[in-house]
Amino acid sequence: MITYGRKRWILDIQSFVDKYYVERRNTNSTKWDLLEERFGDPDLLPIWVADMEFKAPEGVIDALTERVQHGAYGYSFIPDSYYETYSSWMEKHFGYKVEKEWCRPATGVVSALYWFMNCYTEEGDAVIITPPVYYPFFNVIKELDRKLVTADMTDNDGRFELDFDLFEQQIEENDVKLFILCSPHNPAGRVWTEDELEQMLSICEKHDVLVIADEIHQDFAYGEHKHVPAPVVAGGKYTDRIVLVNAASKSFNLPGLLHANIVIENDDLRQQFDNYAGQHIQSEKNILGHIATEAAYETGEAWLDGLRSVILSNYDYIKKQFAEHIPEAKVSKLEGTYLPLINLRGFLDPEDTKAFVQEKCKLAVDYGEWFGEDYEGYIRLNLATHPKFVKEAVNRMVEEYKKLK
Ligand SMILES: Cc1ncc(COP(=O)(O)O)c(C=O)c1O
Repeated sequence: MITYGRKRWILDIQSFVDKYYVERRNTNSTKWDLLEERFGDPDLLPIWVADMEFKAPEGVIDALTERVQHGAYGYSFIPDSYYETYSSWMEKHFGYKVEKEWCRPATGVVSALYWFMNCYTEEGDAVIITPPVYYPFFNVIKELDRKLVTADMTDNDGRFELDFDLFEQQIEENDVKLFILCSPHNPAGRVWTEDELEQMLSICEKHDVLVIADEIHQDFAYGEHKHVPAPVVAGGKYTDRIVLVNAASKSFNLPGLLHANIVIENDDLRQQFDNYAGQHIQSEKNILGHIATEAAYETGEAWLDGLRSVILSNYDYIKKQFAEHIPEAKVSKLEGTYLPLINLRGFLDPEDTKAFVQEKCKLAVDYGEWFGEDYEGYIRLNLATHPKFVKEAVNRMVEEYKKLK
């Protein structure tokens, strides 16, 4: 039975890859076509930036094709069917029934983070994040002249954990006004338990800290790990201090279509956002963005299951290969996301990471220090890709590692 199950699984993965893999070179792809500009070498194998080498679900392509074929791309509004579909997805998968009135569209999660920072904080206000964490969190704080406060997570043998005492101490000592929660956490690969979320949120409540919850990775939580949206933690106890942003973009490979969902339940926070938006955000809707998002939530579930199997199989592969051939490297646990960190410090001087990865292995990866100053010597790999690229990347590392020995 087990063998049959595994065989089926492998066949499913193969059929997903055969059906959806697409060559992205020469398509103005940041990941594939900007290697020279970003890494100084056009010939690297790119397994960085979080998008995929897979076509979106057929339902998305069909919906987009129909609209593109229509030919007129005038101003559009987001129909009720969009909110019904989005709310059903949220309720079915995460037990969160989102009301249309709470929602505002955004042209991307990172854009929304800049809006929130301007809307809810003042220059000089302290904002806390939990490195290693998605680098635009640092940028938004620094570029908007807020004070960066960090509570670094602890790497416990490949599982990153938050030190809640440190988190609270940093909030207290720095008079923190806002916390950017990354849930699930990129690149730590953590799916926060409800208990952990409640600990963070109760500390925020105690010190009157507003919480921006970036939940763009919500659809990637594996096995027993379940994503809990911040507004439903403890039966919704902390909802009034939460501004949520999520999107279908990471889940269904749509980030170039610039569409995300803001959800603000609290009337005052929503009013504050609307006032800010009235003065600063006068953009219309991206018609293709909301059409693709609605179609993804409506039709993409089986596709997403297939994708998650590919990711898990790629993760299995790297875990095994590193354990067997580079035991001094430590692959972090992947409870969620598709972006595990790998700690290479066991065999490399952190300062030599780039030379090893780029000059020897000819790979383009995200470097640990992009996610926080103490993470040089870590790299982040993107596993939402064709297994052949993951194999090639790992093989190159194994070969170069052998030469070091
Ligand atoms: C935590 C997190 N937030 C936001 C984004 C990007 O969102 P967007 O493309 O909608 O700006 C990413 C992309 O990897 C991410 O990992």
